[in-house]
Amino acid sequence: MQTEVIRIDDVRVQSKVLKRAGEILRSGGLVAFPTETVYGLGANGFDGEACKGIYLAKGRPSDNPLILHVANRAMIGEIAAEITPLAEKLLAAFCPGPITLILKRKDIVPDEITGGLDTVGIRMPENDVARAMIKAAGVPVAAPSANLSGRPSPTTAEAVLNDLEGRVPLILDGGPCEFGVESTIVDCTGDIAVILRPGAITEEMLEEVAGRVMIDPALVGKDAIPKAPGMKYKHYAPKAPLTLVEGAPEKVAGAMEKELLARRKQGEIVGVLASEEVLEELGSLLPDDLGYCYGAQGDLPAIAASLYEGLRYFDDTEAESLLAEGTTSEGLGLAIMNRLRKASGFTSIRV
Ligand code: TXA
Ligand code: MG
Repeated sequence: MQTEVIRIDDVRVQSKVLKRAGEILRSGGLVAFPTETVYGLGANGFDGEACKGIYLAKGRPSDNPLILHVANRAMIGEIAAEITPLAEKLLAAFCPGPITLILKRKDIVPDEITGGLDTVGIRMPENDVARAMIKAAGVPVAAPSANLSGRPSPTTAEAVLNDLEGRVPLILDGGPCEFGVESTIVDCTGDIAVILRPGAITEEMLEEVAGRVMIDPALVGKDAIPKAPGMKYKHYAPKAPLTLVEGAPEKVAGAMEKELLARRKQGEIVGVLASEEVLEELGSLLPDDLGYCYGAQGDLPAIAASLYEGLRYFDDTEAESLLAEGTTSEGLGLAIMNRLRKASGFTSIRV
């Protein structure tokens, strides 16, 4: 299969391309598309066979359910059996936006999507291209992140092409994603909001709207079984093993330097994913191509937006092992640290 990448700068001017994407989706094919979080790999959400194509293209375990992407409120009514008062509040406050609501599903939702659960994840993306594409398809679009299973999520069309060339006929290129980490997943089936996956809509933002908020215990400890099936897999893994270096920001550079020198003594080629500040302190200790700057220390939106590109960057370098600088776990930091911890397989050095 040939993969075509089409840059979309203006959804109105390029409505023909979106119409074609809609036709591919309706006829059971796959289309990769941008969202404000990460790129998605879409299929017709009412077509179980088409959704099987997603699992096949990604090499994804079939017990890991897919999120349904909708363009408007009416589409939510088609797939959710009940929109709880809690969901109403979150819809009003955060949709469209980088959040996924877990609700009881209607029978029309194919089992291929839900992995046998009686709930479904629903997300209304804010990205223009995503919304225009879903409207053109006229059906909810089932979509996981558009990476091969186990790889970091793609935040550019090039990253999608790297993983899925020959596996998808069309990639819509909407430029780099704004947030760079996947949506916040919130279980809204009960009275209390439960965060199953942290994202750009933070615990603090949810609390302001929904009062009490809980975090799925599996996100904090590593023993409990997560309620979002996908969270149990070792995700976001770069090819070289990654160690997280975390602690007081002013001490991280020193700890990195020590670890870098120790590893180098063993003859190991080490890559470093870190802030401007830390990379500057490491200076000439680190060859330019073995350092990836993820932003200024503490600039969480910038760090989130470049995190996955950074992890992917090292896959094309000589690096045999990686050190990554941790951030705070407050606000957006919770999502960043959740991804970094998973990328590290929970290996860290604390300072
Ligand atoms: O930002 C995002 O959410 C991106 C873009 C493309 O929208 N999508 C995304 O999809 O990250 P994916 O498939 O990579 O992650 C979906 C996560 C998985 O961890 C899955 O287990 C969980 O959502 N999930 C889906 N349906 C669920 C359900 N009914 N109950 C609990 N977790 C669910
Ligand atoms: Mg994913």
